Amino acid sequence: MKKKVLSLLLSAVMVGSLLVGCGTTDTSNDNAGTTADTASNVADNDASGETPAASASGQIVGVAMPTQSSERWINDGNNMKEQLEALGYEVDLQYAEDDVQAQVSQIENLVAKGVDCLVVASVDSSALVNALAQAKAAGIPVIAYDRLLMDTDAVSYYATFDNKAVGTLMAQYVEENMQLATAKEEGRSYNVELFMGSPDDNNAYYVYDGIMEVIQKYLDDGVLVCQSGQIDFESNNTLRWSQETAQQRCENILTANYADQKLDIAITAYDGLAYGVRSALEGAGYKVGEDWPMITAQDAETMACKNILSGHQTMSICKDTKILAQKCVTMVQAVLEGTEPEINDTEQYNNNVLTVPSYLCIPVAVDKDNLKEVIVDGGVYKAEDIGL
Ligand code: BGC
Repeated sequence: MKKKVLSLLLSAVMVGSLLVGCGTTDTSNDNAGTTADTASNVADNDASGETPAASASGQIVGVAMPTQSSERWINDGNNMKEQLEALGYEVDLQYAEDDVQAQVSQIENLVAKGVDCLVVASVDSSALVNALAQAKAAGIPVIAYDRLLMDTDAVSYYATFDNKAVGTLMAQYVEENMQLATAKEEGRSYNVELFMGSPDDNNAYYVYDGIMEVIQKYLDDGVLVCQSGQIDFESNNTLRWSQETAQQRCENILTANYADQKLDIAITAYDGLAYGVRSALEGAGYKVGEDWPMITAQDAETMACKNILSGHQTMSICKDTKILAQKCVTMVQAVLEGTEPEINDTEQYNNNVLTVPSYLCIPVAVDKDNLKEVIVDGGVYKAEDIGL
């Protein structure tokens, strides 16, 4: 009885926190809002999704996360643990520090330990096929967390953000704020470089596609010029989303292509890449308020929010990991209780073996103008966490 009252209380608290979060459900799935839509997108993010009702009972959920080197994954792990434990599950949370073999071993160990369910945010989306086959053979359901698990039939559901919309939002931000639509007739053009995500992360391709769908026409008509020529994903990706690799590549590009002209726009796919680009720009003598380029990214980490406030980064994409965890937890409950979780996409995410039923949360663009509204008022971070 006591347990039931506690569970109702927990559910109420979770609904409450969802109401102020930035990435809740919108079944219309109209995700690629423009910058002007940002505030309404936040408002659109209603909390109509199923809130996990307390259930279990000592069942163990193994949660395999990629790395603690980035703030977002630390938050993801903490949120999953907190929310699952609040429902009575035991949680075995593992981080692989971007080491593919370490993650394989961690998953094999969780399977050997006999966890009841596995939640996996992969380091390398295709490297877990054998380990996941072991899970399947042991009757352990698997849920893909944020990154799709490729080339396997062992995955039941996928909880993520609308990854293509992440790219669309970034590129639309550039399009609107640089007024690209009228640039040609006004004789303006801008130098742009792309710093994309990891080739072993399926999400990176979706983000790239979202970006290219918006900017290709401007590259074609010369409004955007990529002096390095590194427009193809093959030439601008960043293995393991490494900040150092992005910095190095940016340094090389600046030296080789920008000795006598300026970079105007850096479209980076992740805050960590933007930090690398920032260091390279500082090394090359760029100054905020003078010739600092527009810089995009995703995740809205606390450091990125501070950089947005100081002008070292122009925007980021807020992906509230509390909401993602909540959606994933409903999937855990469903597979363990034999029910159906809420899903809102059955078409986009084919992993080469099957199209995985997915729930796509809504990403939201943030810049200095709406940072307080989305991040602070939205309950993502406290004002003091981001120096506001
Ligand atoms: C996630 C992004 C994150 C990136 C680097 C991707 O899979 O979707 O939110 O920025 O990994 O960690």
